Amino acid sequence: MLTFLRATLILFTLLLSLTVTLAFADEEACVTCHRTISPGQVADWEVSLHFEMGVSCSICHGEDHKQANDTDLASFPDEALCAECHQEKYDQFSKGKHNYGWTSMNAMPITHVEPDELMEGGRGCGGCHNMGIKSEAQKKEQRDKGYRYQNNSCDECHTRHSFSKKEARDPRACQQCHMGYDHPQWEMWSSSKHGSRWLTKQAGNLPEGAQAPACVDCHMPEGNHENRTAWGFLGVRLPLPEDPQWKADQITILKALGVLNPETGAPTARLDAVKAVDLARLDQESWQKERDKMIDICSKCHSRTYVEEQLAMGDSMMQKADRLMADAIEIVVALYKDGIIEKPKDYSFAYPDFLYFMRTGGSDINGMSHVDQVLFQMYMKHRMRTYQAFFHVNPDYAYWYGWAMMTKDLAEIKELAETLRAVKKVEMH
Ligand code: HEC
Ligand code: HEC
Ligand code: HEC
Ligand code: HEC
Ligand code: HEC
Ligand code: HEC
Ligand code: HEC
Ligand code: HEC
Repeated sequence: MLTFLRATLILFTLLLSLTVTLAFADEEACVTCHRTISPGQVADWEVSLHFEMGVSCSICHGEDHKQANDTDLASFPDEALCAECHQEKYDQFSKGKHNYGWTSMNAMPITHVEPDELMEGGRGCGGCHNMGIKSEAQKKEQRDKGYRYQNNSCDECHTRHSFSKKEARDPRACQQCHMGYDHPQWEMWSSSKHGSRWLTKQAGNLPEGAQAPACVDCHMPEGNHENRTAWGFLGVRLPLPEDPQWKADQITILKALGVLNPETGAPTARLDAVKAVDLARLDQESWQKERDKMIDICSKCHSRTYVEEQLAMGDSMMQKADRLMADAIEIVVALYKDGIIEKPKDYSFAYPDFLYFMRTGGSDINGMSHVDQVLFQMYMKHRMRTYQAFFHVNPDYAYWYGWAMMTKDLAEIKELAETLRAVKKVEMH
């Protein structure tokens, strides 16, 4: 019996190595040459499921490039190529928010006054916003500028060439992009109880069965690639809140985002751009749908009542943050109105324009007053932190890096406004 088993095993192993050899024979040219040209790349591919399944270099890069002097013939796979074998993930991804990364970045006026390297080079805005299936026009624009890479968003979480599912499930796969200035979800999560528990478990100091939610558990449940949240990044939505003060405050913020005309309150062309990239939930139903999904997820580990109360408090923190924010915007608006500060030349209105971010576009910076920059920081950095940290259960970010800094910004803006007005008075005399 044993001998029979061993014989079958040997036969099986022989067959297996034969198939592997055959696979190698197929790939020999690409692989053998690249083993000397870029050995790390080949090693990475060899640990992938693709290697096991015979998905070879040429399936993704074509067969036209054959030697060192024709490398420009190698093609770079876009998401549609992955879809040939992973249609379901492709379909989910195309309906989610990640699919809008490249388009929303390019919709920002600021993008076009910044160095190109920060868009196409995988560092700066483009390093994180290379997310989204590019249209033919977008691809052409890249090629015309002379750029050849960044054709694929699928390698942002399960990176090439190992393309590992396990890697993507690890929260560190999200860290590169969801960190830092205006969206420090990594910092907030990793130092919250949820994150520290996850890290403690990783270190082997909690039993295997202990529960600890990571990014993917809350944002890509069951491996669903369609991701979206209720409030989104900008923390605005339609319909506007019922509470009259909060409603007024959100209107002020929407004007500063340039979505509503500051003079008439009517929607501007930017609202269409916002709709086109799913920048905000535009009806109660689509907001509620995302909220309900999240409640279901949290309720796997907490009581429903507990969770609903937690998230409702997140909403009311946003309401309170918006009060401070709108107050600050109005102070700067009054400075524009009274001619104390001047409208930067690219602005459509003599009104703060948040889509210019910090206006880091080199020498052009002269157009923006310092008080406007403090206002930007209050919106992009501190308001974001206040509510994002609340939702990610991080005490310190919610208070010291968020709320406390917002009150500091407001005080600074008030003081700057008084000084600017006093200086103007002296100049007039
Ligand atoms: C005889 C050696 C050789 C063979 C065979 C070969 N390559 Fe290459 N390949 C190279 C060299 C050399 C480069 C350029 C590396 C560099 O830029 O430093 C290159 C570059 C590439 C690039 C990157 C091109 C770029 O613009 O950055 C890809 C993709 C590629 N090869 C894939 C393949 C595939 C797929 C095959 C098989 C169909 C293959 N290679 C066969 C030598 C080879
Ligand atoms: C499952 C598809 C897939 C397979 C298989 C694959 N690649 Fe790639 N490769 C990619 C993707 C995606 C990119 C990034 C494309 C971009 O940025 O536009 C890439 C980029 C590259 C690059 C250029 C960027 C860099 O980091 O140097 C080279 C060279 C390359 N691959 C070589 C290879 C070789 C050699 C093999 C086989 C050992 C291989 N690839 C197998 C998908 C694949
Ligand atoms: C010719 C078919 C084919 C193409 C093209 C292809 N794959 Fe795959 N891929 C497979 C097969 C087969 C598996 C293993 C079974 C599975 O998980 O679906 C796999 C598995 C995977 C996995 C899971 C690996 C794991 O650790 O479980 C990821 C992630 C993946 N592919 C990503 C990609 C990406 C990204 C592209 C495009 C750059 C791509 N694939 C192109 C066939 C393909
Ligand atoms: C390469 C950068 C990058 C990586 C890696 C990345 N993201 Fe994102 N993520 C983005 C960008 C850019 C957006 C905003 C897209 C847009 O413009 O709509 C975004 C949006 C999101 C949103 C939607 C927020 C909203 O507006 O509703 C969620 C949720 C999210 N990401 C979760 C994750 C998770 C979880 C991971 C890791 C598994 C991850 N992301 C990995 C860049 C990245
Ligand atoms: C470190 C990575 C990173 C850099 C650098 C970066 N972004 Fe983002 N950006 C993101 C992530 C992640 C999100 C989603 C954040 C969230 O939902 O909390 C986002 C959101 C956005 C959004 C809103 C998208 C939406 O639907 O809510 C716009 C617009 C945007 N970024 C443009 C830019 C521009 C322009 C630059 C450069 C001046 C830039 N980003 C730099 C990662 C980055
Ligand atoms: C315990 C569940 C949970 C975990 C774990 C979690 N999030 Fe979130 N996340 C939320 C909730 C709740 C919201 C707010 C949803 C809403 O708008 O109602 C949110 C919102 C977001 C947003 C939109 C903007 C914001 O911050 O409010 C992004 C982007 C995001 N999370 C990314 C991440 C990333 C990346 C990680 C891991 C480092 C992560 N999240 C971990 C629950 C979670
Ligand atoms: C924001 C990060 C992120 C991006 C971008 C992303 N994936 Fe994934 N992918 C994941 C995560 C996380 C998993 C593991 C999901 C799970 O099983 O929990 C995964 C798993 C997969 C798997 C394995 C499925 C299985 O059940 O074995 C495939 C195949 C895959 N992704 C293909 C793609 C393709 C194709 C794209 C581009 C259209 C893409 N992914 C873009 C995060 C991402
Ligand atoms: C996979 C399980 C899991 C999920 C999903 C989960 N949590 Fe937790 N949560 C925990 C654990 C475990 C703790 C640590 C318990 C403790 O502090 O004693 C915790 C702690 C908390 C705390 C801090 C409690 C305290 O007493 O300090 C809050 C608040 C919280 N979670 C809210 C949420 C919200 C809101 C969601 C959904 C957005 C969520 N959790 C999703 C497991 C989970």
